[in-house]
Amino acid sequence: MDAFRIEGGVRLKGTVSISGSKNAVLPMLCATLLAPGEYTLTNVPVLRDVTTLSSLLRTLGVHVVRDGSTLRIDSTRAVPNEAHYDLVRTMRASVYVLGPLLGRFGHARVSLPGGCAWGPRPIDLHLHAMEKLGARISLDHGVIVARGAPLRGNVIDFQISSVGATGNAVMAAVLAEGTTTIRNAAREPEIAALCEFLVAMGAGITGIGTHELAIDGVPSLSPVDAAVIPDRIEAGTYLVAGAITRGEIELRDIREDQMQSTVEALRATGAELESTEAGIRIRGTGEIRPVTVSTEPYPGFPTDMQAQLMSLLLLAHGDSTIHETIYSDRFKHVPELTRMGGRIRVEGGDAMIQGVPNLTGAPVMASDLRASAALVLAGLVAEGTTEVLRVYHIDRGYERIEEKLAGLGARIWRVRQS
Ligand code: EPZ
Repeated sequence: MDAFRIEGGVRLKGTVSISGSKNAVLPMLCATLLAPGEYTLTNVPVLRDVTTLSSLLRTLGVHVVRDGSTLRIDSTRAVPNEAHYDLVRTMRASVYVLGPLLGRFGHARVSLPGGCAWGPRPIDLHLHAMEKLGARISLDHGVIVARGAPLRGNVIDFQISSVGATGNAVMAAVLAEGTTTIRNAAREPEIAALCEFLVAMGAGITGIGTHELAIDGVPSLSPVDAAVIPDRIEAGTYLVAGAITRGEIELRDIREDQMQSTVEALRATGAELESTEAGIRIRGTGEIRPVTVSTEPYPGFPTDMQAQLMSLLLLAHGDSTIHETIYSDRFKHVPELTRMGGRIRVEGGDAMIQGVPNLTGAPVMASDLRASAALVLAGLVAEGTTEVLRVYHIDRGYERIEEKLAGLGARIWRVRQS
Protein backbone atom coordinates (compact mmCIF):
# COMPACT_ATOMS: atom_id res chain seq x y z
CA MET A 1 0.00 0.00 0.00
CA ASP A 2 1.48 3.34 -1.07
CA ALA A 3 2.07 6.31 1.22
CA PHE A 4 2.68 10.00 0.65
CA ARG A 5 5.65 11.73 2.26
CA ILE A 6 5.18 15.48 2.59
CA GLU A 7 7.65 18.13 3.74
CA GLY A 8 5.51 21.01 4.93
CA GLY A 9 6.09 24.76 4.72
CA VAL A 10 5.95 25.57 0.99
CA ARG A 11 3.58 28.31 -0.19
CA LEU A 12 1.95 26.77 -3.25
CA LYS A 13 2.00 28.85 -6.40
CA GLY A 14 0.92 28.29 -9.98
CA THR A 15 -1.96 26.90 -12.00
CA VAL A 16 -3.70 23.54 -11.67
CA SER A 17 -6.14 21.92 -14.09
CA ILE A 18 -9.20 20.32 -12.51
CA SER A 19 -10.25 16.88 -13.76
CA GLY A 20 -13.70 15.53 -14.57
CA SER A 21 -16.11 14.84 -11.73
CA LYS A 22 -15.96 11.39 -10.11
CA ASN A 23 -19.50 11.77 -8.79
CA ALA A 24 -20.83 12.75 -12.22
CA VAL A 25 -19.11 10.07 -14.30
CA LEU A 26 -20.07 7.14 -12.04
CA PRO A 27 -23.86 7.40 -12.60
CA MET A 28 -23.32 8.29 -16.28
CA LEU A 29 -21.36 5.07 -16.74
CA CYS A 30 -24.25 3.09 -15.22
CA ALA A 31 -26.75 4.93 -17.44
CA THR A 32 -25.12 3.31 -20.49
CA LEU A 33 -26.93 0.12 -19.40
CA LEU A 34 -30.23 1.78 -20.35
CA ALA A 35 -29.64 1.81 -24.12
CA PRO A 36 -27.60 -0.68 -26.16
CA GLY A 37 -24.88 0.83 -28.31
CA GLU A 38 -21.63 2.79 -28.31
CA TYR A 39 -20.93 5.82 -26.11
CA THR A 40 -17.88 8.09 -25.88
CA LEU A 41 -17.37 9.93 -22.59
CA THR A 42 -14.64 12.60 -22.50
CA ASN A 43 -12.95 14.40 -19.57
CA VAL A 44 -13.16 11.17 -17.58
CA PRO A 45 -10.75 11.28 -14.59
CA VAL A 46 -8.27 8.45 -14.09
CA LEU A 47 -9.47 7.22 -10.68
CA ARG A 48 -9.72 3.92 -8.85
CA ASP A 49 -13.48 4.31 -8.56
CA VAL A 50 -13.81 4.66 -12.34
CA THR A 51 -11.64 1.57 -12.81
CA THR A 52 -13.72 -0.33 -10.26
CA LEU A 53 -17.02 0.59 -11.91
CA SER A 54 -15.62 -0.22 -15.36
CA SER A 55 -14.73 -3.69 -14.06
CA LEU A 56 -18.22 -4.09 -12.65
CA LEU A 57 -19.81 -3.08 -15.97
CA ARG A 58 -17.61 -5.60 -17.79
CA THR A 59 -19.12 -8.36 -15.59
CA LEU A 60 -22.49 -7.15 -16.94
CA GLY A 61 -21.39 -7.62 -20.55
CA VAL A 62 -20.49 -3.98 -21.17
CA HIS A 63 -17.31 -3.28 -23.15
CA VAL A 64 -15.28 -0.42 -21.62
CA VAL A 65 -12.00 0.84 -23.10
CA ARG A 66 -10.00 3.79 -21.75
CA ASP A 67 -8.10 6.03 -24.16
CA GLY A 68 -6.46 8.72 -21.99
CA SER A 69 -9.28 10.81 -20.53
CA THR A 70 -11.79 9.25 -22.93
CA LEU A 71 -13.86 6.15 -22.20
CA ARG A 72 -15.42 4.21 -25.05
CA ILE A 73 -18.34 2.10 -23.87
CA ASP A 74 -20.35 -0.49 -25.79
CA SER A 75 -23.38 -1.79 -23.94
CA THR A 76 -24.85 -3.68 -26.92
CA ARG A 77 -24.39 -7.01 -25.23
CA ALA A 78 -25.21 -5.92 -21.64
CA VAL A 79 -26.85 -8.65 -19.55
CA PRO A 80 -28.42 -8.42 -16.07
CA ASN A 81 -25.81 -10.60 -14.36
CA GLU A 82 -25.41 -10.23 -10.64
CA ALA A 83 -23.35 -7.22 -9.52
CA HIS A 84 -20.97 -9.18 -7.31
CA TYR A 85 -20.00 -8.42 -3.72
CA ASP A 86 -16.25 -8.51 -4.48
CA LEU A 87 -16.66 -5.36 -6.60
CA VAL A 88 -19.69 -3.73 -4.97
CA ARG A 89 -18.22 -3.89 -1.43
CA THR A 90 -15.32 -1.64 -2.44
CA MET A 91 -17.49 1.14 -3.78
CA ARG A 92 -20.97 2.18 -2.68
CA ALA A 93 -21.64 3.88 -6.02
CA SER A 94 -21.92 0.39 -7.56
CA VAL A 95 -25.53 0.48 -6.36
CA TYR A 96 -26.13 2.86 -9.27
CA VAL A 97 -26.48 -0.20 -11.55
CA LEU A 98 -29.75 -1.12 -9.78
CA GLY A 99 -31.99 1.48 -11.45
CA PRO A 100 -30.72 0.99 -15.02
CA LEU A 101 -30.74 -2.84 -14.82
CA LEU A 102 -34.28 -2.77 -13.49
CA GLY A 103 -35.37 -0.13 -16.00
CA ARG A 104 -33.96 -1.92 -19.02
CA PHE A 105 -34.23 -5.62 -18.15
CA GLY A 106 -37.04 -5.69 -15.56
CA HIS A 107 -34.83 -7.36 -12.98
CA ALA A 108 -31.54 -6.88 -11.14
CA ARG A 109 -29.37 -8.65 -8.58
CA VAL A 110 -27.03 -6.25 -6.76
CA SER A 111 -24.94 -7.07 -3.69
CA LEU A 112 -25.54 -4.77 -0.74
CA PRO A 113 -22.83 -2.07 -0.99
CA GLY A 114 -19.84 -1.33 1.25
CA GLY A 115 -17.87 1.81 0.40
CA CYS A 116 -16.40 4.48 2.67
CA ALA A 117 -15.58 3.60 6.22
CA TRP A 118 -17.82 5.93 8.18
CA GLY A 119 -21.25 5.13 9.55
CA PRO A 120 -24.00 2.91 8.25
CA ARG A 121 -24.58 3.61 4.58
CA PRO A 122 -28.19 2.50 4.05
CA ILE A 123 -29.84 2.27 0.67
CA ASP A 124 -33.43 2.20 1.96
CA LEU A 125 -34.33 5.27 -0.11
CA HIS A 126 -33.05 3.58 -3.28
CA LEU A 127 -35.20 0.49 -2.61
CA HIS A 128 -38.22 2.62 -1.65
CA ALA A 129 -38.00 4.39 -5.02
CA MET A 130 -37.83 1.08 -6.93
CA GLU A 131 -40.88 -0.23 -5.03
CA LYS A 132 -42.82 2.96 -5.79
CA LEU A 133 -42.17 2.22 -9.47
CA GLY A 134 -43.69 -1.23 -9.04
CA ALA A 135 -40.61 -3.37 -8.41
CA ARG A 136 -40.69 -6.23 -5.93
CA ILE A 137 -37.58 -6.17 -3.74
CA SER A 138 -36.18 -9.06 -1.70
CA LEU A 139 -32.87 -9.78 0.00
CA ASP A 140 -31.21 -13.08 -0.86
CA HIS A 141 -28.04 -13.77 1.18
CA GLY A 142 -26.78 -10.18 1.01
CA VAL A 143 -27.93 -9.65 -2.57
CA ILE A 144 -30.75 -7.26 -3.42
CA VAL A 145 -33.13 -8.95 -5.88
CA ALA A 146 -35.40 -6.52 -7.73
CA ARG A 147 -38.09 -7.56 -10.18
CA GLY A 148 -40.71 -5.54 -12.02
CA ALA A 149 -41.44 -5.29 -15.72
CA PRO A 150 -42.63 -2.97 -16.90
CA LEU A 151 -42.06 -0.37 -14.22
CA ARG A 152 -44.90 2.11 -13.83
CA GLY A 153 -44.53 5.84 -13.23
CA ASN A 154 -45.48 7.11 -9.75
CA VAL A 155 -44.83 9.88 -7.23
CA ILE A 156 -41.62 9.34 -5.22
CA ASP A 157 -41.36 11.60 -2.19
CA PHE A 158 -37.89 11.40 -0.58
CA GLN A 159 -37.87 12.17 3.13
CA ILE A 160 -34.10 12.81 2.95
CA SER A 161 -32.32 14.52 0.07
CA SER A 162 -30.23 11.66 -1.35
CA VAL A 163 -27.88 12.04 -4.31
CA GLY A 164 -27.64 8.31 -5.02
CA ALA A 165 -31.30 7.51 -4.50
CA THR A 166 -32.29 10.39 -6.79
CA GLY A 167 -29.91 9.14 -9.48
CA ASN A 168 -31.16 5.56 -9.21
CA ALA A 169 -34.81 6.64 -9.24
CA VAL A 170 -34.33 8.75 -12.37
CA MET A 171 -32.52 5.94 -14.18
CA ALA A 172 -35.29 3.48 -13.32
CA ALA A 173 -38.09 5.89 -14.27
CA VAL A 174 -36.92 6.99 -17.74
CA LEU A 175 -38.14 3.73 -19.37
CA ALA A 176 -41.16 3.21 -17.07
CA GLU A 177 -44.74 3.39 -18.40
CA GLY A 178 -46.27 6.77 -17.53
CA THR A 179 -45.02 9.76 -15.60
CA THR A 180 -42.89 9.82 -12.46
CA THR A 181 -42.58 12.79 -10.12
CA ILE A 182 -39.61 12.85 -7.74
CA ARG A 183 -40.08 15.24 -4.83
CA ASN A 184 -37.19 16.45 -2.64
CA ALA A 185 -34.87 15.35 -5.44
CA ALA A 186 -31.15 16.03 -4.90
CA ARG A 187 -30.06 19.17 -6.77
CA GLU A 188 -26.33 18.36 -6.88
CA PRO A 189 -24.75 19.31 -10.25
CA GLU A 190 -23.76 15.66 -10.73
CA ILE A 191 -27.43 14.66 -10.73
CA ALA A 192 -28.32 17.53 -13.08
CA ALA A 193 -25.53 16.31 -15.38
CA LEU A 194 -26.91 12.75 -15.25
CA CYS A 195 -30.39 14.07 -16.16
CA GLU A 196 -28.96 16.07 -19.07
CA PHE A 197 -27.10 12.95 -20.27
CA LEU A 198 -30.37 10.97 -20.12
CA VAL A 199 -32.27 13.73 -21.98
CA ALA A 200 -29.61 13.61 -24.69
CA MET A 201 -30.30 9.85 -24.87
CA GLY A 202 -33.99 10.64 -25.46
CA ALA A 203 -35.42 10.68 -21.94
CA GLY A 204 -38.28 13.04 -21.03
CA ILE A 205 -37.06 14.85 -17.88
CA THR A 206 -38.09 18.34 -16.73
CA GLY A 207 -37.26 20.29 -13.56
CA ILE A 208 -33.55 19.46 -13.87
CA GLY A 209 -31.60 21.17 -11.09
CA THR A 210 -34.71 21.70 -8.95
CA HIS A 211 -36.16 19.78 -6.00
CA GLU A 212 -38.92 18.32 -8.20
CA LEU A 213 -38.18 16.21 -11.27
CA ALA A 214 -40.89 15.09 -13.73
CA ILE A 215 -40.03 12.09 -15.90
CA ASP A 216 -42.22 10.99 -18.82
CA GLY A 217 -41.29 7.38 -19.56
CA VAL A 218 -40.28 6.57 -23.14
CA PRO A 219 -40.17 3.13 -24.81
CA SER A 220 -36.45 3.26 -25.57
CA LEU A 221 -33.32 5.42 -25.43
CA SER A 222 -30.27 5.82 -27.69
CA PRO A 223 -26.54 5.97 -26.92
CA VAL A 224 -24.84 9.39 -27.03
CA ASP A 225 -21.45 10.98 -26.49
CA ALA A 226 -20.88 13.40 -23.59
CA ALA A 227 -18.21 15.36 -21.71
CA VAL A 228 -18.01 14.98 -17.91
CA ILE A 229 -18.43 18.17 -15.86
CA PRO A 230 -15.47 19.35 -13.73
CA ASP A 231 -15.04 17.97 -10.21
CA ARG A 232 -16.16 20.72 -7.83
CA ILE A 233 -14.83 18.84 -4.79
CA GLU A 234 -11.38 18.32 -6.28
CA ALA A 235 -11.46 22.02 -7.14
CA GLY A 236 -12.48 22.99 -3.60
CA THR A 237 -9.65 20.85 -2.23
CA TYR A 238 -7.08 22.78 -4.27
CA LEU A 239 -8.61 26.07 -3.16
CA VAL A 240 -7.99 25.00 0.44
CA ALA A 241 -4.41 24.03 -0.53
CA GLY A 242 -3.86 27.62 -1.67
CA ALA A 243 -5.42 29.08 1.47
CA ILE A 244 -3.74 26.79 4.02
CA THR A 245 -0.23 27.31 2.58
CA ARG A 246 -0.85 31.06 2.20
CA GLY A 247 0.05 30.62 -1.45
CA GLU A 248 -1.53 31.75 -4.70
CA ILE A 249 -3.15 29.16 -6.97
CA GLU A 250 -5.22 29.50 -10.12
CA LEU A 251 -7.66 26.68 -10.96
CA ARG A 252 -8.49 26.01 -14.62
CA ASP A 253 -11.31 23.99 -16.22
CA ILE A 254 -13.84 24.55 -13.45
CA ARG A 255 -17.50 25.56 -13.17
CA GLU A 256 -17.38 28.40 -10.63
CA ASP A 257 -21.19 28.60 -10.63
CA GLN A 258 -21.23 25.13 -9.01
CA MET A 259 -18.79 26.13 -6.24
CA GLN A 260 -20.44 29.20 -4.70
CA SER A 261 -20.84 27.84 -1.16
CA THR A 262 -17.23 26.69 -1.05
CA VAL A 263 -15.99 30.04 -2.40
CA GLU A 264 -18.11 31.91 0.18
CA ALA A 265 -16.84 29.77 3.05
CA LEU A 266 -13.21 30.31 2.04
CA ARG A 267 -13.77 34.06 1.64
CA ALA A 268 -15.18 34.08 5.17
CA THR A 269 -11.89 32.61 6.43
CA GLY A 270 -10.08 35.60 4.93
CA ALA A 271 -8.79 34.01 1.72
CA GLU A 272 -8.94 36.26 -1.36
CA LEU A 273 -10.71 34.68 -4.34
CA GLU A 274 -11.32 36.18 -7.76
CA SER A 275 -12.63 34.92 -11.08
CA THR A 276 -10.06 34.80 -13.87
CA GLU A 277 -10.19 34.19 -17.63
CA ALA A 278 -9.24 30.54 -17.06
CA GLY A 279 -11.24 29.89 -13.88
CA ILE A 280 -10.64 31.11 -10.35
CA ARG A 281 -7.63 32.30 -8.31
CA ILE A 282 -7.17 32.01 -4.56
CA ARG A 283 -4.62 33.90 -2.47
CA GLY A 284 -4.02 32.82 1.12
CA THR A 285 -3.58 35.79 3.44
CA GLY A 286 -1.57 36.10 6.64
CA GLU A 287 -4.58 35.57 8.88
CA ILE A 288 -7.07 32.71 8.77
CA ARG A 289 -10.32 33.83 10.35
CA PRO A 290 -12.47 31.38 12.39
CA VAL A 291 -15.91 30.55 10.95
CA THR A 292 -19.02 28.50 11.72
CA VAL A 293 -20.19 26.31 8.83
CA SER A 294 -22.95 23.72 8.40
CA THR A 295 -22.82 21.09 5.67
CA GLU A 296 -26.04 21.09 3.62
CA PRO A 297 -27.39 19.48 0.45
CA TYR A 298 -26.51 21.46 -2.70
CA PRO A 299 -26.29 24.41 -3.07
CA GLY A 300 -25.23 24.51 0.60
CA PHE A 301 -21.69 23.85 1.81
CA PRO A 302 -20.82 20.31 0.64
CA THR A 303 -20.22 17.55 3.18
CA ASP A 304 -17.45 16.38 0.82
CA MET A 305 -15.56 19.60 1.66
CA GLN A 306 -16.02 19.32 5.44
CA ALA A 307 -12.74 17.56 6.25
CA GLN A 308 -10.71 19.82 3.96
CA LEU A 309 -12.14 22.99 5.53
CA MET A 310 -11.43 21.59 8.98
CA SER A 311 -7.72 21.33 8.14
CA LEU A 312 -7.69 25.02 7.28
CA LEU A 313 -9.59 26.00 10.43
CA LEU A 314 -7.03 24.22 12.64
CA LEU A 315 -4.81 27.29 12.03
CA ALA A 316 -7.49 29.98 12.41
CA HIS A 317 -7.02 32.90 14.85
CA GLY A 318 -9.86 31.79 17.12
CA ASP A 319 -12.47 29.06 17.56
CA SER A 320 -14.52 27.60 14.69
CA THR A 321 -17.47 25.20 14.56
CA ILE A 322 -18.46 22.76 11.83
CA HIS A 323 -21.93 21.21 11.91
CA GLU A 324 -21.95 17.97 9.85
CA THR A 325 -25.66 17.57 9.06
CA ILE A 326 -25.49 14.99 6.23
CA TYR A 327 -23.70 12.05 7.87
CA SER A 328 -23.87 10.82 11.43
CA ASP A 329 -20.15 10.49 12.05
CA ARG A 330 -18.02 11.84 9.23
CA PHE A 331 -15.12 12.78 11.51
CA LYS A 332 -12.60 9.97 10.90
CA HIS A 333 -10.02 12.68 10.10
CA VAL A 334 -10.25 14.19 13.61
CA PRO A 335 -7.97 11.78 15.53
CA GLU A 336 -5.35 12.00 12.79
CA LEU A 337 -5.45 15.80 12.63
CA THR A 338 -5.15 15.80 16.42
CA ARG A 339 -1.88 13.86 16.07
CA MET A 340 -0.61 16.79 14.00
CA GLY A 341 -1.43 19.29 16.74
CA GLY A 342 -5.03 20.15 15.86
CA ARG A 343 -7.33 21.00 18.78
CA ILE A 344 -10.75 19.55 17.91
CA ARG A 345 -13.65 18.48 20.11
CA VAL A 346 -16.44 16.43 18.56
CA GLU A 347 -19.91 16.33 20.09
CA GLY A 348 -22.44 14.40 18.03
CA GLY A 349 -22.50 16.00 14.59
CA ASP A 350 -20.57 19.09 15.68
CA ALA A 351 -16.80 19.67 15.65
CA MET A 352 -15.41 22.57 17.66
CA ILE A 353 -11.97 23.64 16.45
CA GLN A 354 -9.64 25.76 18.58
CA GLY A 355 -7.10 27.48 16.33
CA VAL A 356 -3.41 26.80 16.99
CA PRO A 357 -0.36 28.70 15.67
CA ASN A 358 1.11 25.72 13.81
CA LEU A 359 0.82 22.02 13.04
CA THR A 360 3.60 19.44 13.24
CA GLY A 361 4.19 16.61 10.81
CA ALA A 362 3.43 13.03 11.87
CA PRO A 363 2.67 9.61 10.40
CA VAL A 364 -1.13 9.56 9.88
CA MET A 365 -3.60 7.04 8.49
CA ALA A 366 -5.94 7.76 5.60
CA SER A 367 -9.41 6.41 6.24
CA ASP A 368 -11.89 7.69 3.68
CA LEU A 369 -11.45 9.75 0.56
CA ARG A 370 -12.00 13.27 1.85
CA ALA A 371 -10.52 12.61 5.30
CA SER A 372 -7.35 11.54 3.48
CA ALA A 373 -7.32 14.76 1.47
CA ALA A 374 -7.58 16.70 4.72
CA LEU A 375 -4.46 14.94 6.04
CA VAL A 376 -2.53 15.86 2.89
CA LEU A 377 -3.64 19.48 3.21
CA ALA A 378 -2.48 19.59 6.85
CA GLY A 379 0.83 18.00 5.84
CA LEU A 380 1.43 20.77 3.29
CA VAL A 381 1.61 23.34 6.09
CA ALA A 382 2.82 21.26 9.05
CA GLU A 383 6.36 21.73 10.34
CA GLY A 384 8.50 18.78 9.34
CA THR A 385 7.54 15.56 7.62
CA THR A 386 4.08 14.02 7.36
CA GLU A 387 3.59 10.48 6.13
CA VAL A 388 0.05 9.69 4.97
CA LEU A 389 -0.47 5.91 4.90
CA ARG A 390 -2.96 3.92 2.78
CA VAL A 391 -3.26 6.52 0.05
CA TYR A 392 -5.32 4.13 -2.05
CA HIS A 393 -8.23 5.94 -0.40
CA ILE A 394 -7.07 9.14 -2.10
CA ASP A 395 -6.50 7.44 -5.43
CA ARG A 396 -10.22 6.61 -5.45
CA GLY A 397 -11.17 10.25 -6.04
CA TYR A 398 -8.17 12.45 -6.80
CA GLU A 399 -6.40 12.16 -10.15
CA ARG A 400 -2.60 12.37 -9.80
CA ILE A 401 -2.88 14.49 -6.65
CA GLU A 402 0.84 14.28 -5.78
CA GLU A 403 1.80 15.34 -9.32
CA LYS A 404 -0.65 18.24 -9.31
CA LEU A 405 0.53 19.41 -5.87
CA ALA A 406 4.22 18.99 -6.80
CA GLY A 407 3.46 21.08 -9.90
CA LEU A 408 2.44 23.86 -7.49
CA GLY A 409 5.71 23.55 -5.59
CA ALA A 410 4.70 21.11 -2.86
CA ARG A 411 7.35 18.77 -1.54
CA ILE A 412 5.30 15.56 -1.80
CA TRP A 413 6.39 12.10 -2.91
CA ARG A 414 4.54 8.80 -3.37
CA VAL A 415 6.37 6.07 -1.46
CA ARG A 416 5.62 2.63 -2.82
CA GLN A 417 5.17 0.24 0.07
CA SER A 418 4.61 -3.50 0.06
C1 EPZ B 1 -23.07 10.88 -2.75
O1 EPZ B 1 -23.13 9.74 -1.92
C2 EPZ B 1 -21.59 11.11 -3.03
N1 EPZ B 1 -21.05 9.94 -3.72
C3 EPZ B 1 -20.85 11.32 -1.72
O2 EPZ B 1 -19.51 11.65 -2.05
C4 EPZ B 1 -21.47 12.51 -0.98
O3 EPZ B 1 -20.84 12.62 0.29
C5 EPZ B 1 -22.97 12.31 -0.81
O4 EPZ B 1 -23.59 12.04 -2.08
C6 EPZ B 1 -23.65 13.53 -0.19
O5 EPZ B 1 -23.42 14.65 -1.01
C7 EPZ B 1 -21.27 9.80 -5.05
O6 EPZ B 1 -21.90 10.64 -5.67
C8 EPZ B 1 -20.66 8.59 -5.70
P1 EPZ B 1 -26.61 10.40 -0.16
P2 EPZ B 1 -24.56 9.04 -1.61
O7 EPZ B 1 -27.50 9.31 -0.59
O8 EPZ B 1 -25.44 9.15 -2.79
C9 EPZ B 1 -28.58 8.94 3.87
C10 EPZ B 1 -17.18 11.44 -2.06
O9 EPZ B 1 -16.42 11.81 -1.17
N2 EPZ B 1 -29.19 7.90 3.06
O10 EPZ B 1 -26.84 11.78 -0.71
O11 EPZ B 1 -24.30 7.71 -1.04
C11 EPZ B 1 -27.07 8.77 3.97
O12 EPZ B 1 -26.75 7.85 5.00
C12 EPZ B 1 -18.46 10.74 -1.69
O13 EPZ B 1 -17.01 11.66 -3.29
C13 EPZ B 1 -30.17 7.10 3.63
O14 EPZ B 1 -30.52 7.23 4.79
O15 EPZ B 1 -25.09 10.00 -0.46
C14 EPZ B 1 -26.61 10.17 4.26
O16 EPZ B 1 -26.76 10.41 5.64
C15 EPZ B 1 -18.48 10.35 -0.22
N3 EPZ B 1 -30.74 6.14 2.87
C16 EPZ B 1 -27.60 11.04 3.48
O17 EPZ B 1 -28.72 10.20 3.21
C17 EPZ B 1 -30.41 5.94 1.55
O18 EPZ B 1 -31.00 5.07 0.90
C18 EPZ B 1 -27.07 11.55 2.15
O19 EPZ B 1 -26.57 10.43 1.44
C19 EPZ B 1 -29.41 6.77 0.99
C20 EPZ B 1 -28.83 7.75 1.76
